[in-house]
Amino acid sequence: MTKEQSRELTVAEMATLTAGATMWTTPAIPDAGIASLSMADGPMGVAGARIDERDVSLLTPAPMALGASWDPALVQRVGRLVGGEAVRRGVDLMLAPNLNLARSPLAGRAFEYFSEDPLLCGTLGAAWVQGCQAAGTGAIAKHLVCNDSETERDRMNAVVDERTLREVYLLPFEMAAQAGCAGMLTAYNRINGQWCAEAGPVVRDIVKDEWRFPGVFMSDWFGTHSTAASLNGGLDLEMPGPARFLGARSASAVAEGQVPLERLQDAARRVAAAARRFGAEKGQPLDDGAATALLVEAAAAGFTLVRNEGGLLPLDPARAQRIAVIGPNASAPCFQGGTFAKIAVKPDAVLPIDALRARFGAAIDSYTPGVDPQPKLPRMPVRPARMLADGCTRGMTIDYFDNADFAGPPLLSETRDTNSLTWFHGVHEAGALQADAGTRASGIFTATETGQHRFHVGGTGALRLLVDGVEVFRRDEQLAPGDVMGRLKSGDADSVGIVLEAGRAVDVVVELRYTAARCQGLWYGVRAPGTAEAMLADAVQAARDADAVILVVGETSDASVESKDRADTCLPAEQLVLIERVCAANPRTVVVTNVGHAFDTRWEGQAAAVLHCWYPGQEFGNALAQVLAGDREPGGRMPVTIARNDGDYPALSLRPDAQGDLHYSDGVRFGYRGLAARGIAPRQAFGGGFGYAAFHLRDACVRATGDGCELTVTLRNTSTRAGAEVVQVYRTVPELTLAGYAKVWLEAGAATNVVIPIPLRRLQVWRAGWHTLEGPVHLLVGHSSADLPLSVSITLQGDAS
Ligand code: BGC
Repeated sequence: MTKEQSRELTVAEMATLTAGATMWTTPAIPDAGIASLSMADGPMGVAGARIDERDVSLLTPAPMALGASWDPALVQRVGRLVGGEAVRRGVDLMLAPNLNLARSPLAGRAFEYFSEDPLLCGTLGAAWVQGCQAAGTGAIAKHLVCNDSETERDRMNAVVDERTLREVYLLPFEMAAQAGCAGMLTAYNRINGQWCAEAGPVVRDIVKDEWRFPGVFMSDWFGTHSTAASLNGGLDLEMPGPARFLGARSASAVAEGQVPLERLQDAARRVAAAARRFGAEKGQPLDDGAATALLVEAAAAGFTLVRNEGGLLPLDPARAQRIAVIGPNASAPCFQGGTFAKIAVKPDAVLPIDALRARFGAAIDSYTPGVDPQPKLPRMPVRPARMLADGCTRGMTIDYFDNADFAGPPLLSETRDTNSLTWFHGVHEAGALQADAGTRASGIFTATETGQHRFHVGGTGALRLLVDGVEVFRRDEQLAPGDVMGRLKSGDADSVGIVLEAGRAVDVVVELRYTAARCQGLWYGVRAPGTAEAMLADAVQAARDADAVILVVGETSDASVESKDRADTCLPAEQLVLIERVCAANPRTVVVTNVGHAFDTRWEGQAAAVLHCWYPGQEFGNALAQVLAGDREPGGRMPVTIARNDGDYPALSLRPDAQGDLHYSDGVRFGYRGLAARGIAPRQAFGGGFGYAAFHLRDACVRATGDGCELTVTLRNTSTRAGAEVVQVYRTVPELTLAGYAKVWLEAGAATNVVIPIPLRRLQVWRAGWHTLEGPVHLLVGHSSADLPLSVSITLQGDAS
């Protein structure tokens, strides 16, 4: 340790360390050897500090897709990839992984969670942490705790009993702590009456004191509410900066005797330790080829095949004759969710339809979306109004003005190939975004069809839309600053119809006058003519004419957002009609779903095969083509339960009651546990699914070890293909509970003994302390929570720890 590093900090310096310096950094104290840490949002990659489609970064499969892989070794490699990507982008700490749980299928951010089950989530989360940190990038596990919903997330109070908190919602964080994560982010919500950022009984007493976690606790962005209560509760760092509650105020709170000096010293020590650990030595990013290969492998590893009548899949490209590709998500895939951690994907990411064409060649004789692929906001396929030095030939010319009359030369001009622009205060290169200023977007649109085109426009201020110099839409209304975020998140747009002839080029101009607020947004698009009936009829005809159909349905990324849960579990109504009509027209239809969470699949009996792809990241297309062609296994197993009826889910509504309380009344009996306890069969069981190979389990036995027990079972691949199986072990009391699992790859016809260690904690329950289950404990072994053919039992020593 150098002299600088060993120097004592003054109280003022310690206080400085308790708040961020900027939106994404901590303060540096160079002469004490404390570097500034820069942070970026995750978990699917390294999100840019400004929301800009040009800040391209690698996009991994979403955690729910990684959860479906049931493969910690793979998830560790994905974490390493993201850690390396952070190094490439100069980022020291990733705000990831997200260790909340998919308690309800309606949760707006469920795609960002690994699973409904805490053990699956915890093991995969810990693996991700280890991988990320192996690159020298710190992982900040989030959001402690019970931020499993978005409705009223800034106010909601999660009411959870101690056993449920310990066994379910804290377990993934405990495993991340054991994996040595750099820190944790406190959630926006309250837990049993206290803000998570002030929740001493959890942060201080359990995580810091009981688990001896040495990392940093920081608040979720703008989620700090107080000075003394936060510090005393265990919060170390207010984010983002500049400080509102901590920082210099931390020193005053110590001087006034509201916070012990030792607490401030401890907070500063934790921040300084993270800066020394993660502000220094770094690993290498993966090279492009290795990164792409891993992203294809990881996407395919999460694809979950739940139905394959008559062995329709894989479709052999050498024998396939006429395959119709249908469905909106084949050309407009949902690679990821729509939170602020959205990654700018490389513009040439391969679309499923293009990858399928490349793999199946002439066998794919048609593609038709069947329904509108961009039901909410269509793209604006334009040429820029002016050619700028950036040389871009696609997108709109964006001019920034320092006045709301758009007078004089613009402060800055750029070309942006996107239909949605967002600017945060201070990020805009031309200076702060003040009221009385504006942005103009202009481009040239050429109609390719004749008929009524609908021009859409939305934004956070007053708006004007001009087509060929004529004002066709105007909204003078100015929002209250507090409503800007809501408008931005809703993405609502107005539209006007204009008849154009094919080949006609028109000038399109959109003007936004800013509202005084921290951020601004402007979005626009144009929808070409075409009716829903015609699109559906084309799809049905294509299905009739084909030997087999690949029907790709699913969501757009605005189905999964922050601050909002979903209203229902269904696919859009027009997609349900599309599934029904296409499956009726062609019995050899594979339905590929691109949905990030559990959803209603009551239609699945209509299809010959069903493959759930979740949100698979930027290599969706290549992974899909390889899996459908049989070059790769669909490696996934269900990371969540799909119930037959919404009423079967142990937790569905995420709306707090009139007092703001959200009662976790399902307790430890969430998801599959709740269904099993009530004897209700799921539509798709947790852990269920299969690949192209087939497996048989026999001869399970169990023996006690120093810490719990070890289960051994023989697994045989009974098929003529190599493939992977996930062997799952559940205890039966007090409720069915996943106790261990292993993903095993086996060559055709091969057999192996699979050994699954089950630490004692997996066989304990919390009753004011950890208590080992008494009497003989039955362990069921099998392929899913609803397919457990083998049973063993063991009596353990009743240790409470
Ligand atoms: C989200 C966090 C995220 C943070 C910084 C918050 O709104 O809840 O998950 O890390 O913003 O972007």
